[in-house]
Amino acid sequence: MSQAPSPQQVARLTIASIARLYADGERIAMLTAYDYPTARILDEAGIPILLVGDSVGQVMLGYDSTVRVTLAEMLHHTKAVVRGTTRALVVADMPFLSYGVTPEASLENAGIMMREGGAGAVKLEGGERSARTIETIVRAGIPVMGHIGLTPQSIHQLGGHRVQGKTRETGRQLLADALAVQQAGAFAMVLELVPEQLAAAITERLRVPTIGIGAGAGCSGQVQVVTDLLGMSAEFTPKHARHYTELHSIIKTAAEAYRADVIAGTFPGPAESTRIDAARLDEILGRTTLDRPEMVEASRGIPLDRDL
Ligand code: KIV
Repeated sequence: MSQAPSPQQVARLTIASIARLYADGERIAMLTAYDYPTARILDEAGIPILLVGDSVGQVMLGYDSTVRVTLAEMLHHTKAVVRGTTRALVVADMPFLSYGVTPEASLENAGIMMREGGAGAVKLEGGERSARTIETIVRAGIPVMGHIGLTPQSIHQLGGHRVQGKTRETGRQLLADALAVQQAGAFAMVLELVPEQLAAAITERLRVPTIGIGAGAGCSGQVQVVTDLLGMSAEFTPKHARHYTELHSIIKTAAEAYRADVIAGTFPGPAESTRIDAARLDEILGRTTLDRPEMVEASRGIPLDRDL
C-alpha cells in the first residue's frame, strides 16, 4: 500500500516546476503570505507559489503604502514564510528602492532575500525601466518574477490605484514592458490592473507565464492578497478580489465570545486547567503537620499560610 509522503519527502517547487505547470497548460494559483502559520496552511492547501508581497506593509503593518516597507521587514516576513513551507516556491518582493538604484545594490539586496531569507526567487516592479536590473540579477543565478501594469511602488507617480494600459500609448507600452521583462530573463510576471483583453493578448505573446491580479481570466495564473481572499477587512475589498470566507467576522465573533467567557469566569474551565492533589497543595503552602520550623529556612523566605 502506498503511503502519503512526509513533508520532508516533498520536494520544494522551483521555477522549473512552474515552467512545467505552464507548459502543461495548468493555471497557476499564487497567493501572498506574510507569516508562519498562514504559510503552513497555504502550503498544505497545495498553493504552488507564495509571494511575500510588500503589500505586507499595508495589510499587516498598517502603513499607508508599500513605499514605506524596508528590506529588513521583507526579510523578517520572508524567513517566517520559508519556515512555514516545505513545498511552495517562496517569492520575496524587493521593496521600494532596494533595486534599480545601482546594479550592485540591486544584486546585493536580491542576494540577501535568497541567502538570508531562504526565498526561491525575488519579484520586482517595472517593465522596460527595470529590464537591466532583472538581467543583472538573473545572470547572477537568482530567479526573478517581473511585475508590470499597476506597480504600487510608483503610486505617487501613477496618482492612484488605476487600471493601466487603457489608451493606445499606455497599452502599447505595457506590451513593450512585458516583452522587455521576458527578454531580461524573468521566469514569470505579474500583470496588475490591466484590461482583461489586453492581459490575454500579452499572455498569448509570451513564452513565460503571466500571473494576473485584476487582469481577467486570460492570464496563465492568478494572484490574490491573502487577506482579501480570507475576508480579513470589513472596510475595503478591491473590485478584483473575491472573499472565500469572512475571517473578519469569524475572528470578531470568537474574540467577543472569549471576552464574555473571561468576564463571566467560565474561561478557563476544568478542561483547560490542571489540578494537583489537595495534600500536595497543603505541602506547598506549609499547612502540614510535617511542616517544621527548619522548613522555614528551606522555603527561602516565601511566605507560607502559617506565616500570614
Ligand atoms: O505585494 C503584493 O502583494 C503584490 C501582489 C499584488 C502581486 O505585489
